[in-house]
Amino acid sequence: MSLSANVVWHDVECGGYGADLALWHELARAGGGPVLEVGAGTGRLALRLAHAGHEVTALDRDGELLAELASRAAAAGLAVETVLADAAAIELPRRFALVAVPMQTLQLLPGPAARAGFFAGAAGALAPGGLLAAAIADALEGFDEHAPLPLPDIGEVEGLQYLSQPVAVRTQPGAVRIERIRQIVAPGGGRTSEDDAIELQAVTAEGLAREAEPHGLRAEAPLSVPATDEHVGSTVVMLRG
Ligand SMILES: C[S@@+](CC[C@H](N)C(=O)[O-])C[C@H]1O[C@@H](n2cnc3c(N)ncnc32)[C@H](O)[C@@H]1O
Repeated sequence: MSLSANVVWHDVECGGYGADLALWHELARAGGGPVLEVGAGTGRLALRLAHAGHEVTALDRDGELLAELASRAAAAGLAVETVLADAAAIELPRRFALVAVPMQTLQLLPGPAARAGFFAGAAGALAPGGLLAAAIADALEGFDEHAPLPLPDIGEVEGLQYLSQPVAVRTQPGAVRIERIRQIVAPGGGRTSEDDAIELQAVTAEGLAREAEPHGLRAEAPLSVPATDEHVGSTVVMLRG
């Protein structure tokens, strides 16, 4: 069955990132119990953790991405539980040694009220002594159409070329807006083009620790994921239940 454009764009823009994988494998190993990945997408991380032998639950609010994750898990003979839910309202019967929030997903939540909902739900999902770890982007350098553009994310699926070109990073009050142009190029050269934008809420490790504390989460020293040529580095906020 053909992949939807939603799935392909997710894979093109997120699937190639690998700088954080060693850290998440190490945290899952150290946790020694079930892992909940929040905002799991098509399973870049969840499938690798399951392949390494961890018991993984993958949560996302996008049913199409989760269905693709489930189908990839089944094709690989991996048991990964999927949960369709908003990260701001997690309510699960199971308890986890690690709640992992990779790739700035926490910054996609629209503000402090949504984050409070997330911290309440994540704290409730942690086994005693479990760890909530969330990656947040290090300072993103602003640029716009007058600056040299970074390289696009590129993928090819079923003969179509997918190019996702970041065209601007704009600092706004309390957030950073990342704008992209997504182009699909057919073999004959025909192309479609559409604008896409996401907003990352501006947060700090210290600010998140303060927000999490009323939910019984204690901050530990953050970890970091180094920057690569294509991606900024990130700080991994560590909150113990
Ligand atoms: C940047 S992607 C990260 C995907 C995956 N964690 C990875 O590391 O490859 C962010 C994911 O978070 C999901 N997401 C965004 N907001 C969400 C929310 N409020 N609740 C649940 N999932 C959310 C998106 O659907 C998307 O799959």
